Amino acid sequence: MASCLKSQKQVILLLVSVLLAYGVSELQAARSPPTNQPYRTAYHFQPRKNWINDPNGPMLYKGVYHLFYQYNPNGVIWGPPVWGHSTSKDLVNWVPQPLTMEPEMAANINGSWSGSATILPGNKPAILFTGLDPKYEQVQVLAYPKDTSDPNLKEWFLAPQNPVMFPTPQNQINATSFRDPTTAWRLPDGVWRLLIGSKRGQRGLSLLFRSRDFVHWVQAKHPLYSDKLSGMWECPDFFPVYANGDQMGVDTSIIGSHVKHVLKNSLDITKHDIYTIGDYNIKKDAYTPDIGYMNDSSLRYDYGKYYASKTFFNDAKKERILLGWANESSSVEDDIKKGWSGIHTIPRKIWLDKLGKQLIQWPIANIEKLRQNPVNIFRKVLKKGSQIEVSGITAAQADAEISFKIKDLKNVEKFDASWTSPQLLCSKKGASVKGGLGPFGLLTLASKGLEEYTAVFFRIFKAYDNKFVVLMCSDQSRSSLNPTNDKTTYGTFVDVNPIREGLSLRVLIDHSVVESFGAKGKNVITARVYPTLAINEKAHLYVFNRGTSNVEITGLTAWSMKKANIA
Ligand SMILES: *[C@@H]1O[C@H](CO)[C@@H](O)[C@H](O)[C@H]1NC(C)=O
Ligand SMILES: *[C@@H]1O[C@H](CO)[C@@H](O)[C@H](O)[C@H]1NC(C)=O
Ligand SMILES: *[C@@H]1O[C@H](CO)[C@@H](O)[C@H](O)[C@H]1NC(C)=O
Ligand SMILES: *[C@@H]1O[C@H](CO)[C@@H](O)[C@H](O)[C@H]1NC(C)=O
Repeated sequence: MASCLKSQKQVILLLVSVLLAYGVSELQAARSPPTNQPYRTAYHFQPRKNWINDPNGPMLYKGVYHLFYQYNPNGVIWGPPVWGHSTSKDLVNWVPQPLTMEPEMAANINGSWSGSATILPGNKPAILFTGLDPKYEQVQVLAYPKDTSDPNLKEWFLAPQNPVMFPTPQNQINATSFRDPTTAWRLPDGVWRLLIGSKRGQRGLSLLFRSRDFVHWVQAKHPLYSDKLSGMWECPDFFPVYANGDQMGVDTSIIGSHVKHVLKNSLDITKHDIYTIGDYNIKKDAYTPDIGYMNDSSLRYDYGKYYASKTFFNDAKKERILLGWANESSSVEDDIKKGWSGIHTIPRKIWLDKLGKQLIQWPIANIEKLRQNPVNIFRKVLKKGSQIEVSGITAAQADAEISFKIKDLKNVEKFDASWTSPQLLCSKKGASVKGGLGPFGLLTLASKGLEEYTAVFFRIFKAYDNKFVVLMCSDQSRSSLNPTNDKTTYGTFVDVNPIREGLSLRVLIDHSVVESFGAKGKNVITARVYPTLAINEKAHLYVFNRGTSNVEITGLTAWSMKKANIA
């Protein structure tokens, strides 16, 4: 989990410098956030104030969805976390519940870091999370609800046997690299299994633990999987998906030839959530990814700002739902002014693509209940060098879907085989760099005079073998006139044939976040931006084409989004 994202020393240094820069009184003022809040989200999850990071322990219990999250009750930068808790009937509107997992015993006296929920037989929820003990060592802590008749599970207690897993000299676990237990699964032998993220030297590890009673846990001789140079693996997640492209989700304990398994890790070094698809051999209790490694070259859930994600099985709709954290791109000084830091991305349904090479992600259907007042464009040629405003929507709080048909191929540029980094390519060929086929896409959160905009777009190239290469970019370089924001441009190659299949883009725009889904959910990029002019009703949305070829808009629908009830 990302509590480790800053060493304690860095946090103290940061705190000291912030205190010096702003004075203690401003920090105190930040406890009650100011009312002028152009960057607060309207339908992305965030608590009323303070720092949040990883989603924790999501589950469905007695018809109520539970979201816990890493929370610093004392400020807008990371600090010893407790768990925030909200409940929901639809994963869109949320009711805050009391904080939980507060320091209660030695095992979590220095903080309650990330963890997961497992529903035990008899519909009994249990949570395992990482506690920081008096020596600041990472141990695993078991918690149960006090009252299982309360569907909101407001109160939790820590089992007296805690910690239930801890580093010992024998098990060669580094006490500073032992965290984030997964949801457990149970095989036909009746034994529960779970993973804990770790490393040995620079080798990333998914440590495997087993238990019959959920209280006594024994470490397996071998990790479920490891990779030599990828560094600490945080927030592991391990779950089955249907092998045949079925969009339905699969419960965590399901095994068999009709499923493949996904292993995801959050790479502490690069802060990327990467995953592989592979096979789980239950005889050996080992996982083998189809592509044979698990490092920063692996697939990513999201090619923008996204970390410490976690899935759960939504038994009511038979869907697997993915939740993730998007941190701020603003300065700590700006975060103190607004009184909060960190949001969660829109819950995404995920499943395996028909070809079995990657996952597909799509915003949960309930989010569409917030849509209103649609505007449409149908079958319109988007001429080279042109731009069309999508007017009649609240462009700072919107959902837009657009699809393109590509016919005019004569100006397509050659792809250079040395372009191995899509992110680098997007930053070199940003939205203002003219191309052959592209850039075309959307200018979101744009000011009237285009002093500010966040551009989400495609470029198409032709490789030596006559195959098309599709680049998807989110260019933040012009997102704000505020020079202190992180405006890194993000990019990814999309595995799609743009001529045969066309190209589509969906963007969820919510004041300070632009969450973009390319090619019907094959690739996702989340960006955090802070326009100074393009705020609230002064924000605009445009379709643009700065290439030298025409493309056709087959359809565009954009909706104003209602505000969800969140905090
Ligand atoms: C951890 O807890 C102990 C005991 O409460 C305390 O003395 C120590 O300062 C804490 N360490 C950190 C790093 O917070
Ligand atoms: C444990 O991990 C920490 C943090 O990465 C590192 O500084 C330390 O050297 C490691 N200890 C051992 C015994 O490997
Ligand atoms: C990932 O591992 C593969 C296979 O060992 C290797 O070719 C590739 O360079 C690695 N990528 C990174 C970023 O380390
Ligand atoms: C959060 O954002 C900063 C700057 O924008 C980035 O450098 C950092 O790696 C991010 N942290 C995580 C955990 O994503």
